Amino acid sequence: MFRMLCTLQILLIALSTSYAADAGESPGAGDAESPRVLIYGASGRIGNKIVDEALMRGYEVSGVTRNPSRLDAYKGRIDIVVSDILDRDATRRLVSGFDTVIVSVGGTPTDSNPANYIAATAAESLIDVLTPMGEDGPRLIFVGNLFTLIYEDGKSLLELGRVRDDHPNRPMFEGHKIALDAFRASTIDWTIATPPNGLRLEGRTGRVRWGGDELLRDPDGTPSGISREDFAYAIFEEIEEPRYRQTRFNVAR
Ligand SMILES: NC(=O)c1ccc[n+]([C@@H]2O[C@H](COP(=O)([O-])OP(=O)(O)OC[C@H]3O[C@@H](n4cnc5c(N)ncnc54)[C@H](OP(=O)(O)O)[C@@H]3O)[C@@H](O)[C@H]2O)c1
Repeated sequence: MFRMLCTLQILLIALSTSYAADAGESPGAGDAESPRVLIYGASGRIGNKIVDEALMRGYEVSGVTRNPSRLDAYKGRIDIVVSDILDRDATRRLVSGFDTVIVSVGGTPTDSNPANYIAATAAESLIDVLTPMGEDGPRLIFVGNLFTLIYEDGKSLLELGRVRDDHPNRPMFEGHKIALDAFRASTIDWTIATPPNGLRLEGRTGRVRWGGDELLRDPDGTPSGISREDFAYAIFEEIEEPRYRQTRFNVAR
């Protein structure tokens, strides 16, 4: 009887040891853990391609929208989060769980005051949220606008007067300039990524030319082309090998 009990005890110890070893390992131990990214504007034209690129690279994606039906196509593939970037409390709670947050918010201006354009108000909200987090805060990649990039003589197309005063998107372009100035004056870990033209090209080539503040141009002087897919590709190249912290870049084919 004593012998039987001892054998049973040894068996139980062996079983519990093997369970403890399994429990000590994280799920999928041995595999690298998937990087996570939070994407505001995931339902947008550029945001969609950013989500696709993230999924292609094996990221775990949380996509933010104010209207979840706009992300129906991604059901089951990403975590769909309903939130508004202007809601500071919600944004604070949300961003604190991530190392990287991509913001590609936009829309047609509804107001002639550029300070009310979403790029400007979103930047203000993000700076309010991220500044107190200091070095514990996530890295921010913010999609910018070509009219604020340097075109010639150290000035942007906006500053050179190449945009009509009554252009319907003028508040958008100026709103992006307000965002740029606010990021520059902040201490947060920001990068602005900007397409140099209207994103008229198509497809993902993974071959891009990089520019900093200066708008990339073709030999004839026109702003160079990029597709949304290659723009998204470049954003993740920058995330994975950072070169433009607290500054901005534009990319072209
Ligand atoms: N060459 C260039 O310089 C260039 C060209 C194109 C675009 N852009 C810039 O790129 C950005 C994105 O453009 P896009 O064409 O992809 O935009 P879009 O298709 O109009 O989508 C706008 C996105 O912004 C989100 N959004 C708006 N307000 C929001 C808020 N308060 N909270 C959370 N999300 C909000 C929307 O999300 P929900 O509606 O789902 O909530 C939507 O996903 C804009 O800043 C635009 O100016 C630059």
